[in-house]
Amino acid sequence: MKLLVTGGCGFIGSNFIHHILETRADLQVVNLDSLTYAGNLENLKEVEADPRYEFVKGDIAGADFVYALFERQSPPFDVVVNFAAETHVDRSIHSADEFIRTNVVGTNVLLKTAMSFETQRFVQVSTDEVYGSLGSTGRFTEMTNLAPNSPYSASKTAADLLVRAYFKTHGLPGIITRCSNNYGPYQFPEKLIPLFISNILEEKEVPVYGDGMQVRDWIYVGDHNRAVEAVIDKGVPGEVYNIGGETEMTNISLTRLLLEKLGKTKKLIKYVKDRPGHDRRYAIDCSKIRKELGWEPAVSFEKGIQRTINWYESNREWWSNIRSGQYLEYYKKQYGDR
Ligand code: NAD
Ligand code: TYD
Repeated sequence: MKLLVTGGCGFIGSNFIHHILETRADLQVVNLDSLTYAGNLENLKEVEADPRYEFVKGDIAGADFVYALFERQSPPFDVVVNFAAETHVDRSIHSADEFIRTNVVGTNVLLKTAMSFETQRFVQVSTDEVYGSLGSTGRFTEMTNLAPNSPYSASKTAADLLVRAYFKTHGLPGIITRCSNNYGPYQFPEKLIPLFISNILEEKEVPVYGDGMQVRDWIYVGDHNRAVEAVIDKGVPGEVYNIGGETEMTNISLTRLLLEKLGKTKKLIKYVKDRPGHDRRYAIDCSKIRKELGWEPAVSFEKGIQRTINWYESNREWWSNIRSGQYLEYYKKQYGDR
């Protein structure tokens, strides 16, 4: 089976590529990534020489480029897994333009090209944020209304609707996954968990938005990726699958836990102005994928967060290089100017 993985140099995509190359001898992977600030080739340096792996630098919104990439494949791609996206809510509040270009226009380019080449399966990696915000009870199911609140989640919702429309109108075998908040190795240190761990390791303050009582449902990245793999193997075209870690936590209790595990005091907590349009609570009902595809989360939060803390402690160079901008040099060394 030959996979086109987009956005494979980011957090979840690079973990996915490691996982799939380690566990599936039958798979070949082409990784299409434009290397935005969030794309880091260092995430994949261990697999660079693997003959089953190829990196292609390019933009999913570049229609001619994407068409030419599909055209030169022999054998053709069997599956497209679209991880590529602009992903940080705070950046989307600052400016939505890139979110529309990559997340909406880019997804449309991939869909239309996959249709032209009769790709067997198109997996759209989406997010629970398309459902909007919950009150103190209830969980998102696949039937929950779409009600995105940030420009990021609005752009992901638009992409989901395009996947649905290509399935309904053109019969393109698209499948959508909607996962809750991921954590684990290689997450860019702008998101809560890696930002807070690396700040705490440097004895810097951690900025908690608003009252810190917002709730997120955390999942270890490896569990998300095993779910994506299950969808590639057994998912039904036209369907949506929610994926979640069934671990709800307020931001402030998560912050306190990180401080405690790293042996630092609560003095590092700094309450700052809230994020505009901040969703209060996310919680995923993932009974459908459990029942229909036999997937379940395997890594407890306790184990996953310890593994993640250990990884950031022993890979200080990885995140220090990001903070200093040094990580951009790796690409230059391998491929010339970015
Ligand atoms: P990330 O920001 O770490 O990585 C995104 C990757 O996409 C980067 O490598 C970047 O270079 C690449 N990219 C961006 N624009 C591109 C373009 N125009 N063409 C080609 N490549 C481009 O993101 P992530 O956290 O790994 O998220 C991956 C996917 O999973 C996204 O679609 C996101 O919406 C979804 N998701 C993320 C989470 C989470 O908690 N991180 C949860 C649910 C769903
Ligand atoms: P984030 O990691 O940006 O993921 P998302 O917004 O996609 O859920 O944020 C997780 C939660 O943490 C969210 O409620 C916002 C909050 N947060 C902070 O309180 N401080 C921060 O510095 C960041 C980045 C996030």
